Amino acid sequence: MDRAVSMAAVVVALFTMAVAVASGEVVDEFGSGASFIFGDSLVDAGNNNFIPTLSRANMTPNGIDFAASGGMPTGRFTNGRTIADIIGEMLGQADYSPPFLGPNTTGGSILNGVNYASGGAGILNATGKIFVNRIGMDLQVDYFNITRKQLDDLLGRDRAREFLRKKAIFSVTIGSNDFLNNYLMPVLSVGTRVSESPDGFMNDLISHLRDQLTRLHTLDARKFVVANVGPLGCIPYQKTINRVDENECVKLPNQLAQQYNARLRDMLAELNTELPGARFCLANVYDLVLELITNYPKYGFQTAAMACCGNGGAYDGLVPCGPTSSMCDARDKYVFWDPYHPSEAANVLLAKYIVDGDSKYISPMNLRKLYSL
Ligand SMILES: *[C@@H]1O[C@H](CO)[C@@H](O)[C@H](O)[C@H]1NC(C)=O
Ligand SMILES: *[C@@H]1O[C@H](CO)[C@@H](O)[C@H](O)[C@H]1NC(C)=O
Ligand SMILES: *[C@@H]1O[C@H](CO)[C@@H](O)[C@H](O)[C@H]1NC(C)=O
Repeated sequence: MDRAVSMAAVVVALFTMAVAVASGEVVDEFGSGASFIFGDSLVDAGNNNFIPTLSRANMTPNGIDFAASGGMPTGRFTNGRTIADIIGEMLGQADYSPPFLGPNTTGGSILNGVNYASGGAGILNATGKIFVNRIGMDLQVDYFNITRKQLDDLLGRDRAREFLRKKAIFSVTIGSNDFLNNYLMPVLSVGTRVSESPDGFMNDLISHLRDQLTRLHTLDARKFVVANVGPLGCIPYQKTINRVDENECVKLPNQLAQQYNARLRDMLAELNTELPGARFCLANVYDLVLELITNYPKYGFQTAAMACCGNGGAYDGLVPCGPTSSMCDARDKYVFWDPYHPSEAANVLLAKYIVDGDSKYISPMNLRKLYSL
């Protein structure tokens, strides 16, 4: 049955390509583009549903505004679409990139791209240990290597390479958990923090990420968008446990994020000159989220401090969102859906600036430009 379904998908996909070629439409033989998505819970589309982990979002009311599932949870850690989903839509992708571990992610469906992201994941393998299981960035690249072979089988070697180099966007949203669920963890990482200076820890992160991006380039990835780490000290969880005022953020997590982000910017600039044909764009999520938080009324939000779904403390920021949590009424008036993750309303704004914004938020070019090259 599964085989029959996936064969049908291949046939449909190949037929669509043939029609597009024959009719000479703008949409070329590879359809309307694809995104291959790497990262953590900010962009997980359901991979964690398929592994034994404590980092899960396939429970109500997550997904309550996700039209494609009729409001049922999908494993996305937000009320609706993730940033990656919205970016895919804006660039004309025919369907959302499906989770790599999903049983239906076979055959022609991978021509929309594939999502490898996993809640709790980090650049380092040790990150997210508290969740028992998660797919770290090294393993996500291993998984892409499997998809890479499937694309060869589907399209043939040369066309698979052309498809990846020209039509595919590789987005990487990772690093927050290396701070939140590793370096800054009160109990688990006291050892790490005492034995390693912030500089040493960042060297480790940057050199691992550099290797991971280089491996993707080896596998024919060329058009990259890499998100920097957001203002971690401003999420409801950090604000709650550190008991800061409504309009204040926690200093240390923000300082670490900024220090890391400066190193990330330099590393991407180096890769842009070192890796032949590669184009790395930096999505400045830090400044973008800080802008939304600082000027939230201007963007139509009522609060940038409270979690819409969650419980505990002054900002409902202690207990993750689940069936027994309290939930706000006006979900599109909250910057944060839960103690850690932006709402769909915030994701729509973030995606808009990354796709069509100027160099303050996406550089050296925006995603629409990158995609058109
Ligand atoms: C896979 O596809 C089948 C047939 O379309 C559908 O019934 C099923 O819900 C899908 N499974 C998942 C996990 O999406
Ligand atoms: C991390 O885990 C992956 C997959 O299990 C493994 O291939 C890789 O070597 C590990 N990386 C490090 C630095 O230990
Ligand atoms: C991809 O997998 C093949 C083995 O199947 C291996 O030889 C190759 O080194 C892998 N490439 C990367 C970049 O991991």
